[in-house]
Parts: sequence; structure tokens; C-alpha cells
Amino acid sequence: MSESIIDWKRELDADGILWLVLDKQDSNTNVLSVSVLEQLDSLLDEIDTSLPRAVVFRSGKHGGFIAGADVNEFLDVTTTQEALIMIKRGQSLFSRIEALRCPTIALIEGFCMGGGTELALACDYRIALDEPGTRIGLPEVKLGIHPAYGGLVRSTEIINPLHSLEMMLSGRALTARAARAIGLVDTAQPRRQLERAARAMALSPPPKQRMPLLGRLLSLPGIRSLVAAMMRKQVMRKAPRKHYPAPYAILDVWANYHGNRRRMMEEEANSVARLIQGDKVRGLIRVFFLQTRLKGLGDKQSFAPRHVHVIGGGTMGGDIAAWCALRGFVVTLQDREAKYLAQAFKRAHQLYGKRLKTTAERNAALDRLIPDIEGHGVAHADVVIEAIFENIEAKHAIFRDLEPRMKADAVLATNTSSIPLETLATVLKQPERLVGIHFFNPVAMMPLVEIVRTQNSSGQAVEQAIAFTQHIGKLPLPVKSSPGFLVNRILMPYLVEAFLLYDEGVAPEAIDKAATDFGMPMGPVELADTVGLDICQSVAENLSEAFGIELPKGLKKMVDAGDLGKKSGRGFYQYSKGKVVRDRDADLGDQKVIQNRLVYRLLNEAAACLQEGIVDDEDLLDAGIIFGTGFAPFRGGPLNYCRHRGIAEIRDSMSEYASSYGDRFTPVAGWSKLEDSGTQPG
Ligand code: NAI
Repeated sequence: MSESIIDWKRELDADGILWLVLDKQDSNTNVLSVSVLEQLDSLLDEIDTSLPRAVVFRSGKHGGFIAGADVNEFLDVTTTQEALIMIKRGQSLFSRIEALRCPTIALIEGFCMGGGTELALACDYRIALDEPGTRIGLPEVKLGIHPAYGGLVRSTEIINPLHSLEMMLSGRALTARAARAIGLVDTAQPRRQLERAARAMALSPPPKQRMPLLGRLLSLPGIRSLVAAMMRKQVMRKAPRKHYPAPYAILDVWANYHGNRRRMMEEEANSVARLIQGDKVRGLIRVFFLQTRLKGLGDKQSFAPRHVHVIGGGTMGGDIAAWCALRGFVVTLQDREAKYLAQAFKRAHQLYGKRLKTTAERNAALDRLIPDIEGHGVAHADVVIEAIFENIEAKHAIFRDLEPRMKADAVLATNTSSIPLETLATVLKQPERLVGIHFFNPVAMMPLVEIVRTQNSSGQAVEQAIAFTQHIGKLPLPVKSSPGFLVNRILMPYLVEAFLLYDEGVAPEAIDKAATDFGMPMGPVELADTVGLDICQSVAENLSEAFGIELPKGLKKMVDAGDLGKKSGRGFYQYSKGKVVRDRDADLGDQKVIQNRLVYRLLNEAAACLQEGIVDDEDLLDAGIIFGTGFAPFRGGPLNYCRHRGIAEIRDSMSEYASSYGDRFTPVAGWSKLEDSGTQPG
């Protein structure tokens, strides 16, 4: 047996402590694949027969303990039975660790996620490296499941359920100190103390972590159902059960079975076996892979920018600058006069207040953000981003001034949404330098950034822009220069259809409900109100010029009247103290038709973009629309949705809609490309 143990290294030291080091072969990251778990099972046989003084689990990888289960293997599971076999094998393995007759310790350095945290919870003690890179969590909910290797049972046995449940419901990862504060780890230690702490625990084991008194009270049967009901309500606000059943399942398993360990283990397994088979989990796993793909684009190491110069400190430029400073860059922010920067600094202040814990960190971030009306920063910057208002002459003047003052190898980028990069580049001596780095509003919330290349953009400029985007922790999506790029181009027909429905007299509530029932995080009408109707109008006009899409009357009327949406207190909806006011009795109309009309417009445009090569492939298109618009993540993206529902079925239905509602529903030529390529849904 032991010959086949290739991913675990065993080191028995002079004190009789067995150090079990996981170092998965042919992989940069440790994941708990079936093979890794089988090897561990064999190791436990050995350990059972020649019991060491203690066992310490640690990682042989730099910067990470265990990233979780091998998500690829979930996709092979096709029946509840198969899922149960896989889960129960993991459960019984971790129960074997728990039952070992010697102290067991997990030594956590770097990230420790999902199955990794479950393994740690099965140990008697957990020690975390107290460094910023340490992140411990149970993020399974993001894949539409929950911990199943005993993690739900064990975390709610030792941690106050308010904390353990919150961690599982949000999928949020904790720093070493935050994990220590809630009792997820026993101690957080600096690197130099790490091994010593493990050795001390191994040789004279302290009492094990116990649930604090408050946690025990909250877990009592009567109180437990109240706590679960309260948390269910909170979840409902963010994630409807019909689309996101996993968080509800977590609460159900805990509320119904806590206190009966054997039953709870069983139900934990049954619950995930049920969840894992659904299409939703496949869609969410696809999102995980798409995110991994975008994170891996380009070569982050090939470009090491330090200084960013942003011109235009308005809505976008101000927030881009603040974000870059938050991520550790020195940022100079230029505008016409100092007074235009006041709002940008105010928002930066708020952002740092939310995102940074200590005053020292906040002050340091503010120190990195430097007002620079004269534009002295241009000469030193590695990346220059133009984000002044949407005016060709003004932008041309900026570019003429910039080019001779910039470092030869610095990136020159524009954040423009609608002016062709080719037009902007005409005033440059080296037009190949210009790329688009197109952020979305609000910058801090939106994970995606489109990297726009023209036919002239140099490969180096594009590569550097991608690397820069990785450095600031955003997901880069390379797109071809074309009106609306990818995201606005696909989103706009969907929004326009919502406006047309409104013009026809359909209530905003009915339109939004059809979209959120489909799985959109927010309906198109509320989204338009939130973005600002003036901005929607200008994007719609731009795309209308390029593609001839119709401009709805109601929208124009509102913009002309100064009803710009949330920011002006009135748009399609009324706003009271910043909150939308809905008519609960609104007529919901024919929801199926409304939903199809909205979604078909989006899908038709997606097919057109694919055909035109706006992005290189289907996965990039789906990734762009999920991360750029929040498109129903569990559907795995618009094209994945098409494949799932059936290309032919959607095409036929769209043709029917074309005869009832207009030519805009006629399937574009791009659909034949989709049919031909015949990829299976993810
Ligand atoms: P904004 O109107 O909020 O801000 C523009 C800023 O540029 C103002 O502070 C103005 O004083 C400054 N400015 C104008 N001329 C200048 C000059 N010659 N030198 C220095 N500063 C100057 O505009 P916003 O919304 O931030 O848009 C900026 C750019 O970002 C535009 O190209 C727009 O297409 C693009 N964009 C806008 C998005 C949005 O949702 N607002 C989303 C993505 C891109």
C-alpha cells in the first residue's frame, strides 16, 4: 500500500511526533482528490498500528494548506447514490482522524478552504500562521453545496453558531486572527513560533476547544429554531431558495439535527448528495472555473507596476484611483481643479473605512492617493489611465499632452465606454500604445475589467494591461474594440427591452420580477435606475448609432425631466431615503413572455458578439457577462444557458417572438455558429 503514497510525506521526529506533509504531485495547489484521500486512508492504517506520540498535518506547498476538494471530481457524480458514496468515504476518513488515539494538530499556513478546513476541524487542535496570506473558510456555498465531510457538524459543535453559520452561509474566509477570535483555530502564531507551538501542543496537549456558553445557549432546541429563522430571513434577502438552496439546507440541517451527532452527519451527507446533482451546482462550478481562467490570463509577473496616474477624478476616475491605492499602488490623481477631487477623496475615505481594519492601514492607503492637479505623476507612472468625461476633443488634448511626457514603457489606457479607441489614437505618435482598461461602476464592487485592443494595439501593451488588472485584483477580459465592447453591448438590448415593455404599459415591478425569477441579482428597471438613466440613455444612443437599436420613449422623457433614477430620487421607481418604493399590487402580466423577451434580446446579442469575435471563445463570453453584469450565476452564463435549454428550441421560440413582437427577435447569424460548435453544457 505505502508504495502508492505519493502525495503525503511522513516525517517521524525524535519526539515521536509524526509530521504528515501534503504535497500533491504535479500540482501547485493541494486539493483533496479521491486519490489524496485514499492515500490518507492507507496512512491512517499505518498510524493505527504504530501509534505516534502525535500527528501534525501540514502542507508542503508554499503559501497554501489545502484548497478544498477537487471540484473536477464533483462533475463526475451523476446520481445521488454516487454522491453519497463519495461523501461518506470522506466523512468516515475524517472521523478516523478524529478518533485517533493520539493528539492531532492541523498547522495552517496560507489558504485553507472547504475540505481543508473540514480536515482541520477533525483534528484536536488547529494552529494558524498569523500572516496576511492565511485565509480559512468553508466557501462551499459558493458552489451551491455546503460542507459534507463533517464540517457542518464539527464547526457548529465548537464555534458559536452565529459565527460558524455566518461563515458557511457567506462562504467568507477569515484571517488567522479572525479565526482565532471565533474559536475556529486555537491559536494564531508568527512563523518563527509555528513549529514550536505545534510541538508544545503535541507533547503536552491542552484542553480542547469547547463551545462558549453563549453558543451553547443559542444551540438549545427552542432558541435554535429562532436563530435559524432569523438567519433564514437574512438569507432570503440576498438569495432566493429556489435558485440558491444551499444556505437554507445549512440552516435546516443545523436546526433539525444539532445535538444528535450521528443523525446530523447523515443529514449533512444526504443534503449535499441532493444538492450536488442539480444543474445549479454545475453552473456554479462553471463560474468557479471561469473565474480561475480569468485569474490565470496573462503573465502577472512579467510586469511589476508601482505607480498609477489617473486623469479625471469623477465617478470612475476617482474610484479607480482609490481602488488602486487600496491595492497598494502609489496613485496620482489629476483633474482640472482641486475642487473636482473633493468627492473622490471623500469616497476613498469611505472605501478604506469599510475595507481596511486599522487606522494605520487606512492612513497608509490615503497617503498613497496623491492629488496631482499639474499632472507631475505622468512622468513617473507605470500605468496612465484617462477617465475624463466622454468628449473626443478633450480626450485628444489630454493624449497629445500625455504621450511625450510618459515613460517609454508605461501603459497608456483609456476608460472610455463609447469613443472608439481608434479615434482617440489618431493624435498619438505611437497609436499602438493605446489600450482600453474599461472598469465598471461601482469600481469597488464590480470584479470585471474589459481590456480593449484595437487592431493596432501592441501585444505588449495588451499583455501589460492584463497583468496590471491582475495586480489590482480584478478579472481581466480581453475584448476587441467595437461599440459597447462586450458587456454593455449585450446588456443594453436587454435593458432596452425592459424600457420598451415599460412603454407598452408593463409595470416596472412585473419586468423586474421576471428577471429576478430568472436569477438576475437585480431587475433591469431597478438596475437602470441605479446606474443612472442619463448614463443608460447615452450608452443606448451610442449603441443605437452603431447597431440601430431602438430608443425607448419613456426613457428619454424621464431623462429630459431630470428624473435620472436613484441619484435624483425618482426614475422608473420612486426612491425614499435611497430605498426603492415598489407597488405591491402591480399587475404582473404574462411573466413567461416578459422573461423571454428580456432574455432573448440578451442571448441574441451574445450570439452576435460570438460571431464577430468580440471575445475569443464562448467561455470568455459567459465569464464576461457573469462577472460584468451578475447574470444568473447558477446558469453558468448566457451561452451555457442556451446549450442547456437547447439551441434549436431557443431559436425556434425566438422566431415566433419575432413574428409577434418584432424583428429584433429574429435570430442573428451567430446562432448557426453556436449550433455547429456543439459543445456540451458545463
Ligand atoms: P465624470 O463626469 O463623473 O468625471 C469626469 C471627470 O473628468 C470630472 O471630474 C472632470 O472635472 C474631469 N475632467 C474633465 N476634463 C478634464 C481635463 N481636461 N483634465 C482633467 N480632468 C478633466 O465622468 P465618469 O462617469 O467618471 O466617466 C469618465 C470616463 O469613464 C468616460 O470616458 C466614461 O465613458 C467612462 N466610463 C463611465 C462609466 C460610468 O458608469 N460612469 C462606466 C465605465 C466607463
